[in-house]
Amino acid sequence: MSEKIIPTREKILANIRIQRFTPDKDRTPYFDNFKVEVETGMTVLEALRLIKNQQDSSLTFRAFCRSAICGSCTVRVNADPVLACSTQLLPIIKDFGKASVTITPMSNLPILRDLVVDIDPVIEKLAKMHPYLMKNKERIPKTLEQESLMSQKELTQFGQLTDCILCGACFSTCSAVKVDKTYAGPLSFAKAYRFSIDPRDSFRGMRIQASMDQGLWSCVQCRKCIKVCPKDIRPADSIRDMRRIAIDDGIHDTPGSRRAKAYTDDVEKFGQVNKPMLPVIVNGTKGWAAIEAAEVGLKKHGLEVTRQVCKLPGQSGSAKVYSKIREIEKKGK
Ligand code: SF4
Ligand code: SF4
Ligand code: FES
Repeated sequence: MSEKIIPTREKILANIRIQRFTPDKDRTPYFDNFKVEVETGMTVLEALRLIKNQQDSSLTFRAFCRSAICGSCTVRVNADPVLACSTQLLPIIKDFGKASVTITPMSNLPILRDLVVDIDPVIEKLAKMHPYLMKNKERIPKTLEQESLMSQKELTQFGQLTDCILCGACFSTCSAVKVDKTYAGPLSFAKAYRFSIDPRDSFRGMRIQASMDQGLWSCVQCRKCIKVCPKDIRPADSIRDMRRIAIDDGIHDTPGSRRAKAYTDDVEKFGQVNKPMLPVIVNGTKGWAAIEAAEVGLKKHGLEVTRQVCKLPGQSGSAKVYSKIREIEKKGK
C-alpha cells in the first residue's frame, strides 16, 4: 500500500504593517503593526479579516467574491499590487527574508479610508472609451433567432482580453498614470482595443479617437502592467496594437505616430535611431528648442555636438532584415 502523503503546514509569527488613513481625522497616512500567525495557505485577505475580527475592528478594506472574480480587493503588498483574496502571504514573507510585510492601498488613486481607494477616476476614464459593442449591421443578424457567429481565429484575437476583472492593479503600478493624471491607464486601453477588434462592432474610429485624446502615445512601454495583471491581460500589448490599428487606419499626424515612423525609417537607413534629430521629426519646428538646449548642455561638458547619425559597422544588415520582412508580409496578404 502506498504511503499517505501529509502536506507540511508551516507557521510563522509575522509582523504585518498596514497603512492607515482616515481623511477627516488624519493629516497624513501612518502605519500600524499587527502580529499574526501566518500559516501555509493563508491569503492576504484572510490575514486582514483576522486582524479586523481579533485586533482592530476599525481596519477598513474592500472585498466581495473571495474568488479572484470581482476585482475589488486589490492592495499593495511590499509595494506590488495583488488581489488580496488569491495571494498567499507565506511565500511573500519567505521571499522577503524577514517575518514582516507591508500592506498599503493602491497608488495613483485617492484614499477613502485605510486600504480602500476611490476607483471613480478609473471608471470615468474607461467610460470615455465606449467599452461596449456598437452594432455592426453587416455582422449582427436582423432577428434574434439567428446567432451572431464568429470564427475561432476572430475570437482568439480578443478572447483573453474579456477576462479583465477591472481590479486596477495595472492602473496602480502604471508609470504614465503617475506623471499624467489625464492618461487613461492600461485597463481602459485594453478594453478599448478589445471592443475595437471585435468583428461585431462598428465604433473603432470613435475609440481610436478617444484613446488618442486620453494619451495613447504617452505609454512608455515599461510593461509593469503586464507583470502585475492577475488575469494575464497584457495591457501594454493592447496599447501597442491599438497604436498599430490607428496607423493602419490612416492616423499618421500625431507626435507618437511620427516617432514610430522615424524609428523604423532610421533603423532601416542607418541601423539605429537618429536621436539628435528626433525632437524635430516628432514635434516639427518646436523641436529645435529641445535640440539647441541639449547642445548647450553637451558643450558645457566639453562634448562634441553632431546632428548626424554616426555610421556603425554592419548597418547594411538592418536594410536586408527590412526587405525580408516586407517580402514575408507581401506573401502573407
Ligand atoms: S488588465 Fe489585469 S490588472 Fe488591469 S484591471 Fe484588468 S485584470 Fe486587473
Ligand atoms: S506599459 Fe504603458 S500602460 Fe503599462 S504600466 Fe507601463 S506606461 Fe503604463
Ligand atoms: S474579493 Fe473579489 S477579487 Fe478578491
